[in-house]
Amino acid sequence: MMEADGTLVSGPFQKVPLSQLDFSGQPYSVSVLKVGYCQSQTDGTFRADGTITLINGPKTVLVDTGGPWDRDFLLVSLKDRGLDPGRVNLVVGTHGHSDHIGNLGLFPNSLLIVGYDVSEGDTYRPNQLAQGQAYFVDEHISVVPSPGHTGQDVSVQVKGTSEGTVLVAGDLFECCSDEDSWRDLSLNTAVQEISRQEALRTADVIIPGHGAPFRVIRKR
Ligand SMILES: [Fe+2]
Repeated sequence: MMEADGTLVSGPFQKVPLSQLDFSGQPYSVSVLKVGYCQSQTDGTFRADGTITLINGPKTVLVDTGGPWDRDFLLVSLKDRGLDPGRVNLVVGTHGHSDHIGNLGLFPNSLLIVGYDVSEGDTYRPNQLAQGQAYFVDEHISVVPSPGHTGQDVSVQVKGTSEGTVLVAGDLFECCSDEDSWRDLSLNTAVQEISRQEALRTADVIIPGHGAPFRVIRKR
């Protein structure tokens, strides 16, 4: 149900669209470099690109890289922030779709987490993501399994921002008002519903894969 101000009521949660793209914090701040989109065309095709998010602090973390067509945009966006690809410690691909992991090749020296694969160069590290366990980057950032859209989605949870806990969620959420659309894009709606409810229980702000950030308000 949508209210006049765009607020969406979903069970015990309200989802409130936000216009801000930067969330300051200590020690980590979160910046949306590009807001993803998904638009159906009259010829039956879709135009789509995934949200690109930068987490800056003791470590530099990029969550999703957009499609291959975003290469120059990504390089310029990093440069504008005084960064080059070699300074990015960790690149997370929330899942293996082309509009989210199109520029992994810019980061050959970064730790890569793509779905449930954790790798550094050609070395793959054992992890428990497939068993439902988070991968802790440090005490503030963790990569959490959030399957359903595909079989191996992950989200990145950042604690301690000025807005509370931010979840960079990939396509766990398409956008703030996706109640009519996410199921059509889901490999397993029952599994994704569980992942979505967990996200709504634990995050204060969610950055979705194809739309602007939104705030989660939990009703008492
Ligand atoms: Fe996707």
